[in-house]
Amino acid sequence: MDIKLFYDQVDPAAILGRTCYAVVGNPIGHSRSPWIHQRFAEQAEQKMYYGRIQPPVEQFNANAQAFFQQGGHGLNITVPFKLEACAFAKQLTARAQLAGAVNTLWQEAGQINGDNTDGLGLVRDLDAQGIELKGMKILILGAGGAARGIIGPLLTEGPAVMMIANRSLGKAKHLAILFGELAQSVEATLLAESIDDLATQASSGVLGQFDLVINATAASLDVLSPLSDQVAAQLFQPRTFAYDLVYGKPTPFMQQALQHGSRVSDGLGMLVEQAAAAFLIWRGASFSSAINPRQVLAELRHALA
Ligand code: ATR
Repeated sequence: MDIKLFYDQVDPAAILGRTCYAVVGNPIGHSRSPWIHQRFAEQAEQKMYYGRIQPPVEQFNANAQAFFQQGGHGLNITVPFKLEACAFAKQLTARAQLAGAVNTLWQEAGQINGDNTDGLGLVRDLDAQGIELKGMKILILGAGGAARGIIGPLLTEGPAVMMIANRSLGKAKHLAILFGELAQSVEATLLAESIDDLATQASSGVLGQFDLVINATAASLDVLSPLSDQVAAQLFQPRTFAYDLVYGKPTPFMQQALQHGSRVSDGLGMLVEQAAAAFLIWRGASFSSAINPRQVLAELRHALA
């Protein structure tokens, strides 16, 4: 496999002598990761090149292997390859193991290592927005890969209650079992519920007790909210913080929350913060004071407006 395959529209001479990174996904054309990492590299005065790779969906392994064999230093992984990346890594961090998915790969002593910085990115973004997770009551909507990636790092912050609500109850229950031990270790109550059954609790006042509601379903991608208006009316209070993992225009979930006076956030800050965590894994934690993720986020928001 020719390395030119990996670096779209870049003269190979331009990357000579630079450490090379890339984001892998399909599709990948609209990824903001090259821009974000380039800004971190500038802030930290690091010479590096960060490109995009779009392998056919069944060819993640061959592409990742060729990238590292040809001297590539690190990869970020996005949809639909995070599970394959997890299997590809020889050594996983504890949080990647729990997430069952990997978004950051790097080579160390000839061995491929994998981590998942998505959940940490979310925790850092919430922290930067003034959200103190300790003792909070958190409702997570969804029980797919995105939910699984954030549950561990959120639990580690010591919330009082976490409820995982999903369209299919079985998947929510499965995650509650998987993360049961971690929840116990931080004395958090971990519950599983079906999204439909949230409606039956709407009149009891239970829904209004959640401080933080995170939409980790794929519903926003279809321009839908996972919540009925009846449930949204009970759930969203002026003191509630509603966070959607996707970014771009305000989603129907965010609009419901806004209607009831809640604070809302999209997932752009999480995107920048997970990238910052990956950058520090690759380049060294000593650069943590050199990079400024909140400034990069502000610039990115401005560029996207
Ligand atoms: P991802 O990696 O983005 O999490 P996924 O693993 O396919 O993707 O999971 C998608 C999640 O969004 C699931 O929790 C799914 O619910 P089911 O498990 O019941 O399928 C949820 N989801 C997708 N569309 C939804 C919708 N319109 N309303 C509610 N939940 C939805």
